[in-house]
Amino acid sequence: MTIEEFRKHGHETVDWIADYYSTIEKLPVKSRVQPGEIFSQIPDSPPDKAEAYSTILEDLNTKIIPGMTHWQHPNFHAYFPGNSSFPSLLGEMVTSALAAQCMVWDTSPAAAELEEKMMLWLKQMMNLPKSWHGVIQDTASTGTLVALLSARENTSRHDINLNGFGERKFRVYCSSQTHSSIDKAVKIAGIGISNLVKIDTDQNLAMDVKHLKQSIMKDIDQGFTPCAVVSTLGTTGTMAMDPVPEIAEVCREFGIWHHVDAAYVGSAFLLPEYQHYTKGFETVDSYLFNPHKWMFTNFDCSAYFVRDRDCLIKTFEILPEYLKTRSRGKVNDYRDWGIQLGRRFRALKLWFVIRDFGVSGLQSKMRQHIGFSEWIEDKINDHSDFEMVVPRIMNMVVFRYCPGNIDPDHYDKLNEQLLDRINQSGSAYLTHTKVSGNYVIRLVTAQTYLEWKHVENVWKVIVEESEKIL
Ligand SMILES: Cc1ncc(COP(=O)(O)O)c(C=O)c1O
Repeated sequence: MTIEEFRKHGHETVDWIADYYSTIEKLPVKSRVQPGEIFSQIPDSPPDKAEAYSTILEDLNTKIIPGMTHWQHPNFHAYFPGNSSFPSLLGEMVTSALAAQCMVWDTSPAAAELEEKMMLWLKQMMNLPKSWHGVIQDTASTGTLVALLSARENTSRHDINLNGFGERKFRVYCSSQTHSSIDKAVKIAGIGISNLVKIDTDQNLAMDVKHLKQSIMKDIDQGFTPCAVVSTLGTTGTMAMDPVPEIAEVCREFGIWHHVDAAYVGSAFLLPEYQHYTKGFETVDSYLFNPHKWMFTNFDCSAYFVRDRDCLIKTFEILPEYLKTRSRGKVNDYRDWGIQLGRRFRALKLWFVIRDFGVSGLQSKMRQHIGFSEWIEDKINDHSDFEMVVPRIMNMVVFRYCPGNIDPDHYDKLNEQLLDRINQSGSAYLTHTKVSGNYVIRLVTAQTYLEWKHVENVWKVIVEESEKIL
């Protein structure tokens, strides 16, 4: 492709993107293809000769799009969103165009310095502790792994990096509701999954601090070394909020690393009315949230903050000859702030998003999203065949279908059927969780381009599909 051909096809591709977004509502939210359907349409061998760009775009429409679940569809209410937005998309295009490898300051000073500044902006926007140091990780899973590796090194005074675990028996604590990325990080960090202690939760599915303290004391008695506690703000199942200030107190008492995973909900700390959840953050050792979830910034972009920068760097630093630079020590070389050596220029899309929306623009979109969930909660409460399963927190409703004329023993099956019908309809995509052993449906109103008409539509679909079951 020559540069002039690139210009032409680039315009065509931007037109393709604009058409995709303006007609997305005609597509089923969740892909309806069967396993293997897409695979079988892709030739077994690559083309020997160059193909026309128009043929590639045509195949994109006919072979790929039918197999896509449309995360940017305004009727996407599943999981937590992986939001894009137009400024973010444009930022990603420029990142791809620059195609810089931002491992150290010297390999792109602007990338390192914009990243540093964006982390300062986020701290200011969300009133996070001034003493924290920020870096962009790819995902929350990576951020949590970085946190647990730092905790491991902090606990062993950097001896495990040097000599391995030896006879040490470390323990990590989190609630039974935390995300599976904690389990994964414990496994990878060599701590051993049997040393991940799942703490009971209270009636709101938040960590029971009494049980945490008892478990720590019992472990110390039995010769274990408590290494880290992971609190979650906004659990994936129901948005439960662990009591961070009380957990921080326990961590301080026993000298344990305290990591807070606010992957989804952290974006809401842009809103002063939710900043009370950040109480106790001053003593938190590491913290993360994903702008790629509810801050309209393309996947992947996870903001990671740490109190002790030196511990982080000491855990990850490497210094082969070819990476020695004259600027070392005067600048941030982010290859030492996490796992990857090669790093994308992720700060650029964040810069585009924050500037294009403005802080107040981001805030008003989030408040609108919370209002949408409030409306659905009212609808559920007003309908005799539905009930809220846990109190709504922000923009997630967790509910179930529970018609009075049906034996409650059948509710699980009924809700499974209802969810399947909604998702098969193509008009909305929701997912489920289990609360107290019961199968329940969760609905998140957070898609970037969600409007009232879509919210009214999803409620209509839920009611219509429930009526069809009986
Ligand atoms: C609370 C929580 N933590 C961590 C994760 C993992 O996020 P990521 O996909 O960025 O690794 C999720 C994903 O939804 C989550 O809900």
